[in-house]
Amino acid sequence: MSKAIYILAIESSCDDTSAAVLKDTEVLSNLIANQQVHELYGGVVPELASRAHQKNIIPVVQQAVAKAGIQLRDLRAIAFTSGPGLLGSLLVGGAFAKSMALALDIPLISVHHMRAHILAHFIKHPQQEPPTFPFLCLTVSGGHTQIVKVSDYHQFEIIGQTIDDAAGEAFDKLAKMLNLPYPGGPEIDRLAKLGNPSAFEFAKPNIPNLDFSFSGLKTSFLYFLQKEMRQDPNFITENINDICASAQKAIVSILVSKLKKAAQTTGIQSIATAGGVSANSELRQQLQALCRQNGYTLHLPAFEFTTDNAAMIGIAAHYQFLAQDFAPLTTPIEARKEVKV
Ligand code: KG4
Ligand code: ZN
Repeated sequence: MSKAIYILAIESSCDDTSAAVLKDTEVLSNLIANQQVHELYGGVVPELASRAHQKNIIPVVQQAVAKAGIQLRDLRAIAFTSGPGLLGSLLVGGAFAKSMALALDIPLISVHHMRAHILAHFIKHPQQEPPTFPFLCLTVSGGHTQIVKVSDYHQFEIIGQTIDDAAGEAFDKLAKMLNLPYPGGPEIDRLAKLGNPSAFEFAKPNIPNLDFSFSGLKTSFLYFLQKEMRQDPNFITENINDICASAQKAIVSILVSKLKKAAQTTGIQSIATAGGVSANSELRQQLQALCRQNGYTLHLPAFEFTTDNAAMIGIAAHYQFLAQDFAPLTTPIEARKEVKV
């Protein structure tokens, strides 16, 4: 039997400092230190994020290793997110991973954050089977909105993407207009459960091909609020649940209609979703309905692996390890990094 592959993975692309240890495709530990400091500002402040990563990284890595019950000498590689993300944040995780790989004299693995979101589907799970190739993945986070054709662990092709805001960004911006705390996505999701999704209608984009746009919806939403508030200054507080349910439905409908078109045009019937917004309950329901009606197979990620986490970096690194795709210590951090084929 071949020796197990233990990998320590580090994720620090935005405002969560996370470290995980994987034994092959199994997650032994996955720790995440959230940074509350950004709530005060209604969004992530890059310099504060870097400082908090700096403070968190050593205790988070120490705890991940301790919880996994392994010794540092068991590790076969150190993986880190090299992009895309905030430069200062990525630098903290990257510098730490490189130093550790050098000190332990083991290979370094450079992982693409968005590919890792998708590959989270291959983390060993007691109830879920991973998707079979090829599959389409609706990758929806705070910085990205893409439909990716995934042909194997290393082949990714973007066949549609947003031309302006990302879906998570749209959730967060609408939430900000409603004076909800940051991040707004989970908050809208929570309040929407109590509201009527058909209460209000917003402008629908008309974008060609498989691309997305959320800027029209954002403007339509702003004008709608301004108009209603002129008539009733308490409009938001009195209707918050219905507003959230209707806004959520509008965002999710944009996503799901393009994914349906992608399945029809490619003929691929295996569908997955990934990224922070894939935790959204309305998105999950609409995807279930789409797949039921059309006979597609749906893969929803486990909740703990939807928002940023190091376990997803670890699983991506596992397949890179098998392909001997190691990175030199000179590997740069890339704040903008494309999901290339
Ligand atoms: O993947 P992620 O953790 O970080 C990035 O790589 O961007 O995604 C964060 C985004 C935020 O915009 C957040 O509001 C959104 O995911 N999000 C949600 C939900 N949970 C997180 N959006 C809608 N509904 C949710 N339940
Ligand atoms: Zn992410």
